Parts: sequence; structure tokens; C-alpha cells
Amino acid sequence: MKKSIVVLAAVVFAISAVAAFAATDALVGACIYKFDDTFMTGVRNAMRAEMERQGGELEIVDSQNRQPMQNDQVDAYISKGSNALIVNPVDRTAAEPLMNKAKAEGLPIVFINREPYAEVMNAYDKIWYVGAKAEESGTQSGQIIVDYFKSHPEADKNKDGKIQYIMLRSEQGHQDAVLRTEYSTQAMKDGGFEIVELGSDTANWDKVQATDKMKGFISAVGVDNIEAVLANNDDMALGAIEALKAEGYNLGDASKYVPVVGVDATAPALEAMSKGEMLGTVLNDADNQGFAAVKVAVIAADGGAVTEESIGYKITDGKYIWIPYRPVTVENYKEFMK
Ligand code: GAL
Ligand code: CA
Repeated sequence: MKKSIVVLAAVVFAISAVAAFAATDALVGACIYKFDDTFMTGVRNAMRAEMERQGGELEIVDSQNRQPMQNDQVDAYISKGSNALIVNPVDRTAAEPLMNKAKAEGLPIVFINREPYAEVMNAYDKIWYVGAKAEESGTQSGQIIVDYFKSHPEADKNKDGKIQYIMLRSEQGHQDAVLRTEYSTQAMKDGGFEIVELGSDTANWDKVQATDKMKGFISAVGVDNIEAVLANNDDMALGAIEALKAEGYNLGDASKYVPVVGVDATAPALEAMSKGEMLGTVLNDADNQGFAAVKVAVIAADGGAVTEESIGYKITDGKYIWIPYRPVTVENYKEFMK
């Protein structure tokens, strides 16, 4: 009896020693381009959850969509002695000075969601990028429209064999906006359809702006002539759906329906899919992007080697962690609801 208690105590001690050893005391400073962004809020929550598991300290600040403010925030993290940085740049073309600040201090820096140019990524050895291949999401969202048109001949409302569509884009410099637009239209063509763009405009990832833009398109071309809406993200898709609903569309009457696809698989988008208001989306895996960013930052902060074994994610060219996208349709959307 006594002996087993001693053994038990030894085991408990060993386990807590391992746990204490495994926990990090790293201080990681993170900047998010703006807090008021649905998808990035998901990434932010995942980052916090991962740091909770790791035991270190994670500070996250809102760069309020202002690059100069973000540059100052990085300076502040450096002067308070942060051990690693995670940066979601406001302007991905302005990542170089941030990389240089980190490099001057020998601090690890992990960029997320907005990919710095290759020359910036190649100018320092303690730099990583965690994100997703925008091309994939474009192809998958276009494919959802193709599958819909193939299984619903009535979707070709004017029976001309072509898809008349509206494109809601985001800012020109963002790889996700440019490549999703390009690859989604390409997927419709590769699917064997001729396509006709009835309208295309930027709504800056934003739902309210997208509703406005969509109302403008509806009054310009007529809601009956719109056969599909593709949006670079779910918030803009949901904005377009608001405008359609205001016309009595996408409310359940099958003869008054415009298929709308987005990207992200946010909770409100999955909800809209469950109500039959939205055709589909693509999972932009906020959880795994957030988890991976923190894992890389902590291991690098603690001076460890960032390897596929140490982080548990595939690494490309030594510094890119690409989290795969997945198509989300009426068949599988429930899997993604939390
Ligand atoms: C994209 C995402 C958008 C928006 C943007 C911010 O990957 O699909 O919803 O969050 O990042 O950079
Ligand atoms: Ca048509």
C-alpha cells in the first residue's frame, strides 16, 4: 500500500515535471490587420486557444486597417521584449520594413493571411508564412457553380448556354481577392461554360458594402438576368444575399433563386446555407491557420527547430505552411458547424 502511494507520487511528479518542461514561457506579440473582420476573428480565437494549450503569453492588437499604426505596434512589441511576432499585415506589399525590424533583433516573425512577396520571405531565415493557396479556393468556388448548373438546367434562365454572373471582389493588392476572382471564373470555363460578367466590383470583404454594390447591379441589369453571384468571401456573399432577399429572391421560392457562393465557411454563411439562402462556400480553415501560426511562433521563440515534426503541419520551402481549403456544399456543410 505504502509502496504504491510512493510509486503513484513519483508518477504524478514525473508527469507534472514533463508538463512544466513542455510549457513555454514565450511572449508572442501579434497584430491583426483589423479586428472587425469575420474570418480573422476566427483566426484570432484559434490563436488564443492554441496559446492557452502552450502555456505562454499571447498579446494581440488591432491594427485598425492602418499600416503605420501596425509598424508602431511592432516596434512596441520589440521594445517590451517579445520573443516572437505574428503579423497579419494591413498591406502585404509593405511587409519588408516589418521583416527588417524583426531581422535586426534576430526575432522570429510569422506572417499570416496576407502573403509577403517572395523577396521579403527570402531575405531572412527566421520568417514563416501561414496561409492558404488562394487559387484552390477560387477553383473550388467556381466548381460549386459548375456542379449546380450541370444538375439544374433551369439555372440557365435565358437558355443561352452561358452563365451570366456578378463578381464581388476585394482589394486589388490582396492575393486572395485577385486569385479567387481569376480561378473561379477559370473553373466555370474549364467546366465547359461560356461566361458573361454582368458586373464586377470591390466591396472590401465587407457585407454592408456588398449589399450596396449588389443593389446597384440589380437595378442596372435586372434581378431576373442574374444567374449566379461569386464573392471573394462569405461576408460579401451574405451582403449580396441581403440585396436579393430585398427583391423577394432566395427566400424559399425555387423560381426566385440566384445561386451565391462565397469563401471562408463562417458561421453566418453555414447558417444561410442551412436556410437554403446560399448555395455554397469553401472552408478557409481559420482554426488550423491560427493553431499553426502560434505553434511556429512558440517553437521559434524557444529556440527550437521549426520542422514538420515539431509543428505537426507540412512545411513547403522551409517557410510556408499551406492549410488546405475544402469545398462546402449542401451535402457536407453540417460537418463544419460548431
Ligand atoms: C481572406 C478571407 C476574408 C478576409 C481576408 C482578410 O482570406 O477570406 O474573409 O478575412 O482574408 O485579409
Ligand atoms: Ca444564361
